[in-house]
Amino acid sequence: MSTEHEAQVTQTLERLHAADDLDTVEAIRVEALGKQGWLNALMKTLGKMSPEERQTEGPRLQGMRARVADAIEDRKAVLEAAALEAKLATEVLDLTLPAPAAPQGSVHPVSQVMDELAEIFADLGFAVATGPEIEDEWHNFTALNMAETHPARAEMDTFYFPDRDADGNRMLLRTHTSPVQIRTMVGEGAPVRIIAPGRTYRSDSDATHTPMFHQIEGLAVDQGITFADLKGTLFEFARRIFGEERQVRFRCDYFPFVEPGAEMAIDCFVCKGEGYILSPTEGCRVCKGTGWIEILGAGMVNPKVLEGVGYDSSKYTGFAFGMGPERIAMLKYGIEDVRLFYSNDLRFLAQF
Ligand code: PHE
Repeated sequence: MSTEHEAQVTQTLERLHAADDLDTVEAIRVEALGKQGWLNALMKTLGKMSPEERQTEGPRLQGMRARVADAIEDRKAVLEAAALEAKLATEVLDLTLPAPAAPQGSVHPVSQVMDELAEIFADLGFAVATGPEIEDEWHNFTALNMAETHPARAEMDTFYFPDRDADGNRMLLRTHTSPVQIRTMVGEGAPVRIIAPGRTYRSDSDATHTPMFHQIEGLAVDQGITFADLKGTLFEFARRIFGEERQVRFRCDYFPFVEPGAEMAIDCFVCKGEGYILSPTEGCRVCKGTGWIEILGAGMVNPKVLEGVGYDSSKYTGFAFGMGPERIAMLKYGIEDVRLFYSNDLRFLAQF
């Protein structure tokens, strides 16, 4: 009987060795070790044996079972490895297939306007200059003809740092981009023709003010620059950003670092300067019924400022201007609350 079992085991092992697919291995496994399998049935006979018989038959049958089970596992491993090899050998990964598109963001509306402004002024011959957002009082105020006692200093809602140096000076977050005028003139000498875009800070927050906002400064200094150059430059800028048919209006304004100073307005592009759209009793909302929209401050560089940075003001003249890209973006896109720009709401931002 035992030789008969041994022959059956040997035959099973031979069949396993010859099996060349996993289905065949599985069929052999069921035949031997499945519920109705012959080896399984053999194991069950142990229960009916006398203890002495079981002592010799037990280990023998366990050994047969282990040899068959091991051989099944080994053959399976070999066939699985071969199947993987074959798959890898024939499978071609096409790296030229287009990748699934990743979600794309878009440029922030304020950055879009700043880029557009930089492009317009680049066409007019202005290079881009930058300066630090943490400034000292001299660059932010003093060199711009705003002495310590000057009321304009108090009007700017400045964020100061608490520490003072030996002379009592504090650092501050720049309240405008005008200190870049000073840094550029000191650093480069005449002639200069730059715009300075960047972040500025004032302690102020409502529908038209955020504590952090942007400005774009402009400065042109050379021999023979006149107010006509200022007007021509800013007129061209207004027409490029707000439309060919735009008109501009200059009125007197005061900034300590320019003389004379002016405020420039464009005719309202919504009501076409009429002040109303349908009926004169209901004023245009964009220009508040005036027909004009103020968009920037400007003027001829004050000779005191030029002298302060070492320029000969009998030889050099210049003009400067400053504007807020948020305000321009609000006008261009009809946005009514400036805080929307900085609330990180994708429903708003995704529109641009
Ligand atoms: N710096 C001024 C402001 O922030 C704007 C300005 C710049 C005015 C240059 C005139 C010339 O209000």
